[in-house]
Amino acid sequence: MNHDGNCFIFSLFILACYLVTPSSSCSGLLRAWNISITNFVPDDIVVQITSTDHDLGKHTISSNGYYYWTFCEKAFGLSRFTGTFLWGSKFQTLSLADREIMKFCESDKTFDQVCFWMVNPDGFFVTGFKDPPQGWVKKKTWE
Ligand SMILES: *[C@@H]1O[C@H](CO)[C@@H](O)[C@H](O)[C@H]1NC(C)=O
Repeated sequence: MNHDGNCFIFSLFILACYLVTPSSSCSGLLRAWNISITNFVPDDIVVQITSTDHDLGKHTISSNGYYYWTFCEKAFGLSRFTGTFLWGSKFQTLSLADREIMKFCESDKTFDQVCFWMVNPDGFFVTGFKDPPQGWVKKKTWE
């Protein structure tokens, strides 16, 4: 085979890889999720995020700052992340990603689903739409 032929086959291989690999790094047709938390409290807050198979640890989010993590949807079973928040002497524990919340945030984009959490002095709000921010649903208040 001549050199051009190899080159052509190599190009096809690259193209095939590109076509079967979506923008997400998740395998198969599993979707990637990006969950972010923006702090609109006028102080630092601390959040500890855990799930049954991940411990994302404790994170301090400064006022107007944000933290995010990504994960691949599971083919079977359920991804579930819980956050425990501290703001001075106030605290709260709530589900940040579960079946109900992911259903709520889900968009018709095939890949890369997003959920945005906003934490402010009134409590915890979530939406799937950030640009422009709209449709916030309040999930809990601070204790
Ligand atoms: C996840 O969302 C955050 C907040 O919008 C963004 O800054 C970040 O780039 C996103 N990360 C990925 C890997 O999509």
